[in-house]
Amino acid sequence: MNAILSTPRDPAVRSSPDAASPFALDLLAALGGQPKSIAPKYFYDEAGSRLFDQICDLPEYYPTRTELGILRRHAPEIAALMGPQAELVEFGAGSLTKVRLLLDAMQSPKAYLPIDISGDYLADSVRALQAQYPRLQVLPVVADYTRVFTLPTRQRQGHFEDSSVIESEAAHAQSMRVGFFPGSTIGNFTPAEAVDFFRMAAKVLQGGALLVGADLIKDPGILHAAYSDAAGVTAAFNLNLLSRANRELGANFDLAQFAHSAFYNAPLQRIEMHLMSRVRQQVALCGQSFSFEEGETLHTENSYKFTVDGLRALAMQAGFTPGPVWTDAQRLFSLHWLVAPM
Ligand code: TRP
Repeated sequence: MNAILSTPRDPAVRSSPDAASPFALDLLAALGGQPKSIAPKYFYDEAGSRLFDQICDLPEYYPTRTELGILRRHAPEIAALMGPQAELVEFGAGSLTKVRLLLDAMQSPKAYLPIDISGDYLADSVRALQAQYPRLQVLPVVADYTRVFTLPTRQRQGHFEDSSVIESEAAHAQSMRVGFFPGSTIGNFTPAEAVDFFRMAAKVLQGGALLVGADLIKDPGILHAAYSDAAGVTAAFNLNLLSRANRELGANFDLAQFAHSAFYNAPLQRIEMHLMSRVRQQVALCGQSFSFEEGETLHTENSYKFTVDGLRALAMQAGFTPGPVWTDAQRLFSLHWLVAPM
């Protein structure tokens, strides 16, 4: 019942260095580029996912606890919008803490479909969740949701329908498919990629709704601290990208020769995270050699910050209709209900 469905493009390469894996291809392109830049999704191997969980508990990292507070406070209202027997599709499921708040408030949730790129991590979290919610259909999907992937459908997945009960058309029509995209992960896309994400979500949700967490524009000092914590966990998370390349692809990055750098780019409304080369150096990857100048960076992530209207405008470009928005008292973070086009 909880079979992990792998897509043909599943990038979870474990054993031998693989020069044709998506990570290898994207890292080769990044190191050969000018400026050097790579998509943030490669942070999330098992070690990266665990470091990310630690980031979420840092005193400086306000987004997680703020979003949890908003969810806790408004879960009954959100659950009412979902209606009974809703299906929850989470894009990029992590530790599953946030979704528990929704599941606990929902009226007999029918199914939970977490989609995540990190298969091992997903399997562990899902096992724990299934034990706590024995009546919920938990259908994990190992996939990269920024590429084409397939979701088990109500029709194809036999046990998705209770075998002893044949649902009427009306009951079927009543159950809503709701997407959940918390953590301001939407901000890790460029605005154009965010619109692509909304278009993909609209196809998956088909007339349902999307619940999206988006970090808000605020004092740059608060933003800066959140991405350069005193304990150095964010630095370790950033550098894990290079360790992962060493582990999985046989690269020879010397981690001591790279520094974590994160800053708020106010005109572009985004935190930029980089790995800065401390010296002029050469790095070998898949039989090729790449050079870094002293001070040159590999740009590893953007975290866009939004106004409420700015986030809504991106969703509207993909056909969504903005619904209620919830924020905390300090207006640090926002949670949006967006109605998907049919
Ligand atoms: N998407 C969240 C954000 O941008 C969480 C996150 C992703 C993050 N990558 C990160 C936080 C790296 C800190 C460092 O805030």
